[in-house]
Order: sequence, then structure tokens, then C-alpha cells
Amino acid sequence: MTHKTKAAIFISGRGSNMMALVEAAKAPDFPAEFVLVVANDPNAAGLEWAAAHGLKTFALDHKPFGKDREAHERLIDAELRGNGVEFICLAGYLRVLTPWLVRQWEGRMINIHPALLPDFKGLHTHERALEAGVLEHGATVHWVSSGVDEGEIIAQARVPVLEGDTADMLATRVLAEEHRLYAQAVRQVLADKFLTKM
Ligand code: GRF
Repeated sequence: MTHKTKAAIFISGRGSNMMALVEAAKAPDFPAEFVLVVANDPNAAGLEWAAAHGLKTFALDHKPFGKDREAHERLIDAELRGNGVEFICLAGYLRVLTPWLVRQWEGRMINIHPALLPDFKGLHTHERALEAGVLEHGATVHWVSSGVDEGEIIAQARVPVLEGDTADMLATRVLAEEHRLYAQAVRQVLADKFLTKM
């Protein structure tokens, strides 16, 4: 039987990438089992789906922590360790992580970004891609480093920009690719024995 790495998924909203990862993990040869879903927003829609699918969830509102972002993340980190988590997939987690948390999980944390990095880091990537007039757009899975959306690239999926595309139309096409790409990237990094990066 495949050794399954214990993994967590971080979300802030609807969690469609989380759903795609959880579905992919049903395959017997998938190298990870998702043991925890973490959210910084207790109202994140994806939490309900996760709970309904038997996943353990941990929602910790960042707001009461104010500027002390590390205090928020120290509690999350304790929860991760308490659940034996070895690997983290950020999936629409809308918080910039502190250098402290990034250091704790360096080489064991990946993110999905809806653009072809290094182009269009940050938010509103589809609008910006259309404004820039690019012919090709897409999504990137990358290692998380201290620079936002700057870690080493693991995998990318390309989507053509079509005549008459709106940001929503483009986002929908990119999202379908994200769902495929993220599971493939998890398979890839775990097969590469990511633990040697530690
Ligand atoms: C995705 O486009 C992801 O790339 C970005 O935020 C969006 C999250 O969507 N980081 P979902 O919550 O996974 O549906």
C-alpha cells in the first residue's frame, strides 16, 4: 500500500481546490491523506463541505489577533502538529503568512496561484491578465517561500485567452485547470520525496 503523507489544506472561502484535492485523494495510489482543513474565516463556505465529507476542520478567526499575526499562526501550527500533519496545501488561503510560519514549514508547504508566475503575483490576476492583453494565462503550483507568490515553481497549466473573454469567463477556465493541476502537483512533489528538501 502507498505510504500516505498526512496533509492539511488551508482555505478562506468556497474551497473548490480543496474539494478537488479531497476527491483526488480517494485514489488508492494518491500519496497524501488530508487529515485537517484549516480556515482563517469561520464562515468560509468550504468548511461545511469539509465537515460533511468527514474531514476534521479547524477554523481560527484571525481578526481577534489584530496585528499579532504570529500568535494566530502559532495556534494553527500547534493544531497541525497535534494532528501529525507533515505537508500543507494552501488553496485560496487569503492571508500572507508570517516568516515564522513559512520557516516552520519550508519545503513542506505549497500554494496554488491563478496566473502563470512570475507574471501577475497577488490579487485580481484574471482582470490584470486581460488588461495586459496576454494571449495565454493559467495557474501555477509553487513552493511557499517568504516572498509572496515567489517560491520555486512546481507545475503550471496554460489556458488560452479567447476573444471576448471576461475576467469571470477566464477565471472559470483557469479554475478547471487548477483542479487538475493541484492534485497532479501533489503527486509530483510527494513522489520526489519532498522530505529530502528539509
Ligand atoms: C483559486 O483561484 C486559487 O488559485 C486562488 O484562490 C482561488 C480559490 O478558489 N489562490 P477556491 O476557494 O479553491 O474555490
